[in-house]
Amino acid sequence: MDGVDELQALLDCLPIAIGISTDSRCENIRMNRSFANLLGLLSDPNSAKPDASDRTPSDIKMYRNGRELAPDELPMQLAARKGVEIRDFEEEIIWTDGTTFHLLGYAAPLRDKHGAVSGSVGAFVDITERKQAEEKLKTSLQEKETLLKELHHRVKNDMQVISSLLQLQANCIKDEKVREMFRECRERIHSMALVHEKLYQSKDLSRIDFTEYLNSLLPMLFRSYGTPSSSIKLESDLEQVSLSMNLATPLGLVLNELISNSLKHAFPDGRSGVVRVSLHTNPQSQLALTVSDDGIGLGKDFNLENTSTLGWKIVNILASQIGGTLNFQGNHGTPSS
Ligand SMILES: Nc1ncnc2c1ncn2[C@@H]1O[C@H](COP(=O)(O)OP(=O)(O)O)[C@@H](O)[C@H]1O
Ligand SMILES: [Mg+2]
Repeated sequence: MDGVDELQALLDCLPIAIGISTDSRCENIRMNRSFANLLGLLSDPNSAKPDASDRTPSDIKMYRNGRELAPDELPMQLAARKGVEIRDFEEEIIWTDGTTFHLLGYAAPLRDKHGAVSGSVGAFVDITERKQAEEKLKTSLQEKETLLKELHHRVKNDMQVISSLLQLQANCIKDEKVREMFRECRERIHSMALVHEKLYQSKDLSRIDFTEYLNSLLPMLFRSYGTPSSSIKLESDLEQVSLSMNLATPLGLVLNELISNSLKHAFPDGRSGVVRVSLHTNPQSQLALTVSDDGIGLGKDFNLENTSTLGWKIVNILASQIGGTLNFQGNHGTPSS
């Protein structure tokens, strides 16, 4: 056995397709067995496919990103024509019977002693299985995303049903105070349902654009309190932030309480004024949400930690649940963050 035979034996047992061409236009390619197999030029004794012995390379079409490649655009020919190395060249081989392989091609030019291109060598890895697995994964991910979207949609719809049921129940109640309690409950449900609505509309199904959420929530609250826009103005200064559902829902509820309080309590007897909402990330990367109004204020004795009314309780509980701190500052008007 001479060196050439050993080399041929070695190349033939490699699972990678290897080709060598010693003419500068790369018209004739010597290929190992894997290469011939890939082109369907060898009949595989284990394959149920028809005998491939009468197939020629011209029966095979090569594609890249859906476009058929001309013979001089293939990796080995390209390496010879341009005198450069080709790496990670993804292409598809489609046999006449439709059998398709995905390949990753590598090629390098061969040069004579004067440096002129005299041919090229190429290696091709069959990545068909990897591609199929990727495709499967993509499809399954898409299915899961659709399912998740559907779920958020349903949760939102169910919350709307709950809200409507509360409304029907409230219609039977004479006591104005109790009716008001029902209304506040419905608003809390709406602010939660809005998170689900934004989630199923969002590209990233695990986070929502909180700024967009607030831009829907705030006008919704103003409308719900029938606030005349001429007397109570809303000023918002919102930084673009996206939040996970775990943060967005409690923060939405906190905001719901603070804004509804401003609208309900700060401007009695037709007073006019401004409600300000700001959302910013501070230098310590903490999110600061501030709500303030220039209404009658909470009075000197107001103590955020010692309040027993439901609205403030909700604010306290939710703030500690998300690891937030509550700050209250007041002279006149009601700022809290
Ligand atoms: N922005 C505000 N301006 C003036 N008073 C407020 C404001 N927010 C809350 N308050 C006072 O604090 C009280 C408690 O608020 P809260 O716990 O939300 O209960 P509720 O809104 O159901 O009365 C209110 O009844 C009101 O007197
Ligand atoms: Mg309240």
